[in-house]
Amino acid sequence: MKASKVHASNSVESWLVSAGRDGQPGSPLNVPLVPASNFVRGGQRAYTRNDGAPGWEALEEIVGGLEGGSSLAFASGMAGIAAIFDLLSVGSVVVLPDDCYQGVAALAFDGQKRGRWKIHPLGVTDTASWLKACEQADLIWLESPSNPLLTVGDLDIICAAPRKPGAILCVDNTFATPLNQRPLDLGADVSVQSVTKFIGGHSDLLSGVVTARNPALLAALKRSRDLGGATPGTLETFLAVRGVRTLALRLQRSQESAMILAEHLSDHPNVTLARYPGLPSHPTHEAASRQLKGYGTIISFDVRGDAQVADAVCTGVRLIQHATSLGAVESTIERRACIPGQEHLPPTLLRLSVGIENVQDIWADLDQSLRAS
Ligand SMILES: Cc1ncc(COP(=O)(O)O)c(C=O)c1O
Repeated sequence: MKASKVHASNSVESWLVSAGRDGQPGSPLNVPLVPASNFVRGGQRAYTRNDGAPGWEALEEIVGGLEGGSSLAFASGMAGIAAIFDLLSVGSVVVLPDDCYQGVAALAFDGQKRGRWKIHPLGVTDTASWLKACEQADLIWLESPSNPLLTVGDLDIICAAPRKPGAILCVDNTFATPLNQRPLDLGADVSVQSVTKFIGGHSDLLSGVVTARNPALLAALKRSRDLGGATPGTLETFLAVRGVRTLALRLQRSQESAMILAEHLSDHPNVTLARYPGLPSHPTHEAASRQLKGYGTIISFDVRGDAQVADAVCTGVRLIQHATSLGAVESTIERRACIPGQEHLPPTLLRLSVGIENVQDIWADLDQSLRAS
């Protein structure tokens, strides 16, 4: 874990390509894969779970610079998120958006069932209630844009609001990526990335990163990682570093395509509603335009008909992959299952993650499947 900042004279694009390298004469350009758990005593490291590996540190330096803090890499996004929840004392109060990643909702509700904490779900746009909750809650959990409805909360207002002493305000920044939004600059204590998604970008790894500025909070999170053992894999961090080098290019391309596709979907006879923060018709377009540098690469939309029609659209695509997850080079589509706690989701809701394929090809594929279903 190294404190890192994007160099003032460097752009984010250059940081992505140059950060995390050793730079010593004779050393390889890319941090080598070091598959080691144990080291000869007397050096910088003794045991990888506690002392880290060179590849983890490269990833932490790159993401820390993007987010504007110090980063800790974990085995997955959920491992990092679980480490944050693990900091709570029994009886804590947690506020959670009513639309958020289903894994986080499940973790929170399971913990409540076991009497570990109490949850107060709040509407993403109910800013007045969030401000009130900040004064009482021990963990304020925000996710913006939300998964899967892509609602943008007033993060700038909520992150800057006074909160109970010792409370942690955390933003799941996976959908925005640190290129579009930097929660720590807004006043958040922690920013979370599922590296599995945009940072890795190739659907070939699981990893997560949490970033913070407060040294005591970082030390507590590191202790949770050391003792809980949710450490990142050596191969996974190698792949994540390789993947993140092209993040700016991938994001730019996918965002441009997402805007075009969202407009086409809005006009499609077999689509009843297209949700994309970049569309002026989106209910939180104004907040998105104020807070985000880009509107992201995810679109969710309702198909005309029922769940069977929605499933048929997913199985009818040929170029787009019918698969879960998001943020990779390939476009993926899936119907969001209505699991407990997610009853607000329409059964006809599809989530499309726009990849870097030719946008006309993506549209032709989606259009033929929508018309055939
Ligand atoms: C917004 C968001 N946060 C966190 C996660 C969890 O990340 P991981 O699958 O790497 O554990 C996901 C996974 O889909 C996600 O979409």
